Amino acid sequence: MSVLVTNLGELTTNDPELGVVSDAAVVLDGDRVAWVGKAKGAPEADSRVDAEGRAGLPGWVDSHTHLVFAGDRTAEFGARMAGEPYTAGGIAVTVAATRAAGDDQLRAGLRKHVAEAVAQGTTCIETKTGYGLTVADEVRSARLAAEFADEVTYLGAHLVPPGADPDEYTDLAAGEMLDAVAPHVRWADVFCETGAFDEAQSRRVLKAAAARGLGLRVHGNQLGPGPGVRLAVELGAASVDHCTHLTESDVDALAGSDTVATLLPACDLSTRQPLPDARRLLDAGATIALASNCNPGSSYTSSMAFCVATAVLQMRLSVPEAIRAATLGGAQALRRTDVGILRPGARADLHLLDAPSATHLAYRPGIPLTWAVWRSGSPARP
Ligand code: NIG
Repeated sequence: MSVLVTNLGELTTNDPELGVVSDAAVVLDGDRVAWVGKAKGAPEADSRVDAEGRAGLPGWVDSHTHLVFAGDRTAEFGARMAGEPYTAGGIAVTVAATRAAGDDQLRAGLRKHVAEAVAQGTTCIETKTGYGLTVADEVRSARLAAEFADEVTYLGAHLVPPGADPDEYTDLAAGEMLDAVAPHVRWADVFCETGAFDEAQSRRVLKAAAARGLGLRVHGNQLGPGPGVRLAVELGAASVDHCTHLTESDVDALAGSDTVATLLPACDLSTRQPLPDARRLLDAGATIALASNCNPGSSYTSSMAFCVATAVLQMRLSVPEAIRAATLGGAQALRRTDVGILRPGARADLHLLDAPSATHLAYRPGIPLTWAVWRSGSPARP
């Protein structure tokens, strides 16, 4: 079945030849984009949606979330807003709740959070393990994540579980646990930060994952300067996420690499960190992505529109730069060419706004502007 979405006032495609098309139309055929261009030249389709001048764009590509969890950390958030610092230690609270939850409870949480994201225009979503931290709990997290997410990442090296020996746990995360989870995931990630895993431990896990054919991602430079960015670039990681505290040499390393700097502004706001210097990264020639980092500890939002508005209002990105980072940038961070772009052959992931221009995403922050969503060609009207 094909659908012609026509009378779009403005269509952001991210395609270098098509650019932003005014008076546009798109034809979706099954799970693919069949045609993109000016409405007056559009072919017929089985059905038709009149967008009445609204703006369209590719669905958001949210390349960093942690959705396999149970429980809630409202009290920790309240303490933070009263002046307590965010530390990696809070992860242990979610680990205990997640281990105690049944599969159906974890499934219900995943279903709810992914549906919430899709209703706000997210059409491609990555999520991670990392709240299990035993072989069985990490395998369970990966299996459940794969039922709902487009991309799944192994994050056994999220925190050394309370009471465990750091080097023995790193051996487990780089050995038996990795072997058990690897068949269920495409990516491996490490939280390389003071209070989590140091450079040598992070390198051990990442090299073991690469040797097993997994793509690499790194949580780095979140709470202070550190080795995360340098390590990610050295090992050819697809993405280094957070990038809140960067040195000049971190920026240069990213600019001279294929590693995407994935920025998580909702997390920086929720943990009272400074916002990352997106302008400096882009001006230096680095590729950036914006992602929600939806998780119950440091960033409990799935709103990519909030991240885009923050990037424009507070991080000196233009609206087109922020939209690109939240769509094509996310696709690049996941090394995908089929999402984050609207051109024939791409996945049929389309997001329509109840606004004449995508500029309204920053001009009207906090307003739920999503009017219609197609994910892999399936309509998901909010
Ligand atoms: O990306 N930094 C490490 N992991 C998550 C936080 C997880 C938590 O606090 O539960 C993050 O911010």
